[in-house]
Amino acid sequence: MSTLRDLAEEHTALRPADIDHLHRIAGDWQLLSDLSFADLLLWVPVDGDGTFLCVAQVRPTTAPTAYLDDQVGRIVGGAEVAHLEVAHRQGRIWREGDPVWYGDVPARHEAIPVRLRTGDGEAGEVIAVVGRDTNLSTARTPSQLELNYLTTADDLAQMIADGTFPPPRHPGETTSAPRVGDGLVRLDANGKVTYASPNAQSAYRRLGYASHLVGEDLAKLHRRLAGDPLEGTDAGNAVLAALRGEAPPRREIDARGATMLTRALPLMPAGVPIGALVLVRDITEVRRRDRALITKDATIREIHHRVKNNLQTVAALLRLQARRVAMPEARVALEESVRRVASIALVHETLSMSSDEAVEFDGIVDRVASAATEVAATEVSVGMRRRGTFGVLPAEIATSLVMVLNELLLNAVEHGFPPADEEAAAPSPADAPSPSPADAARPEAVVSAPRPEVVVSAHRARKQLHVTVTDNGRGLPEQFDAERGGNLGLQIVRALVTGELRGTIDLRNGADGGTEAAIVVPLARGTTDRLTGRAGPP
Ligand SMILES: Nc1ncnc2c1ncn2[C@@H]1O[C@H](COP(=O)(O)OP(=O)(O)OP(=O)(O)O)[C@@H](O)[C@H]1O
Ligand SMILES: [Mg+2]
Repeated sequence: MSTLRDLAEEHTALRPADIDHLHRIAGDWQLLSDLSFADLLLWVPVDGDGTFLCVAQVRPTTAPTAYLDDQVGRIVGGAEVAHLEVAHRQGRIWREGDPVWYGDVPARHEAIPVRLRTGDGEAGEVIAVVGRDTNLSTARTPSQLELNYLTTADDLAQMIADGTFPPPRHPGETTSAPRVGDGLVRLDANGKVTYASPNAQSAYRRLGYASHLVGEDLAKLHRRLAGDPLEGTDAGNAVLAALRGEAPPRREIDARGATMLTRALPLMPAGVPIGALVLVRDITEVRRRDRALITKDATIREIHHRVKNNLQTVAALLRLQARRVAMPEARVALEESVRRVASIALVHETLSMSSDEAVEFDGIVDRVASAATEVAATEVSVGMRRRGTFGVLPAEIATSLVMVLNELLLNAVEHGFPPADEEAAAPSPADAPSPSPADAARPEAVVSAPRPEVVVSAHRARKQLHVTVTDNGRGLPEQFDAERGGNLGLQIVRALVTGELRGTIDLRNGADGGTEAAIVVPLARGTTDRLTGRAGPP
């Protein structure tokens, strides 16, 4: 399906500014369609011989459509679009002519020329034509509401022909604009209400205004109603600005626990200010839901906070137990569990402070890294460095990744730089003579050795997170099976990386000695369901 821009660029010589204007019309014309009870089709001339291309279409929400089929992309010439040609050539709204039939649907055609005003405010050339086509099969004597809608629609249609509708959009105004059916108020040039739709009347009633709106000065009423004088003044000023022919931003009014969104539009057909159109929408329920969501976010944060507390309690219990057991192996195992649990608690602590199910991961890595160095045997002091940045990670990646890094960092510190006695005891490669006590005693041998260091580096590329943990220690043991070897620590690492994280890990000896673990984790994991926190399909 081609977009308006694609179609216009492919088939016409319209300038970018013209196309932007057509986009603005298509962004705001539901209003005109609803007020007209008619389908609107945006036609652009294709080669000056009376042929037109339909680049956009909108159906009314207030009446049945005249077109069951989509019209966008149709190129039509001849009698079917002769009325468009008149509007285009003569630059005036065309509305004479008899009803036409589409299958068994009778329809009335109208054609509105579209002008883009020039920089100095002159009405420019006609760049396109809006076809306004009404399904007549349900036509009947119009009600007062319908008459008011149609009058207003004609004013707006004239403003399209003048190049003064749609008004420029204010930044940030994209969604939740009040529609015709939400509530419509029409004002005369003095700002007095001449018509208010039943929904508009109800919306004002919720704000505490029970009388009839007709005859009221709406700007004054807005000021009176609002509990907050500032907001009320804003909404009042917006009405006054529209009466002056300006297009003010949308405003909200809060009163008596209800909230109403207002949008004021100037009415100035043929350049004459004749009043304003004010669309209003009761958004009390929307605001209530917003507030409920904020409460939900706060609840989720509170839960993370409690999970963190509980994990810290578990860690504390294990630590107590570790102090009591006599068997050294058991104590080491318990102490390791303490660190594993504590590293998960770190993620929950961070989550409990953020408003999102995502965490700034660098801070967590730095804390896990400094905890790992503290574990290091007393005599070896290992430096830790982070290079690059992890950025913000979703909770489910962060929890697994922090455990992986915890294991790799502990391994680097524990096995890369073992305490001297352990190193001496370890079997050394056959071709390298084990260091003699005399060697160890020579001070320069110690000085020339590189400073023990572990580097964690991270960068993102092509929706992947690349992480390496490198140490300049003694390297992996001979005959170490990098694919399967290892104890519980590496088993945890492999299970998390290939399972939870759906990534890969490569454990190898570094080019300049030491050990290097390289992890790649895909970041695009589908949408995360905010309610369950579970990732969707990859
Ligand atoms: N950075 C490293 N430098 C040198 N050897 C390493 C390194 N990382 C792992 N190793 C070797 O791999 C082995 C397995 O590591 P693994 O983490 O699985 O078990 P562990 O550290 O011995 O015990 P734990 O289950 O408590 O972590 C280690 O015993 C060590 O010999
Ligand atoms: Mg380990």
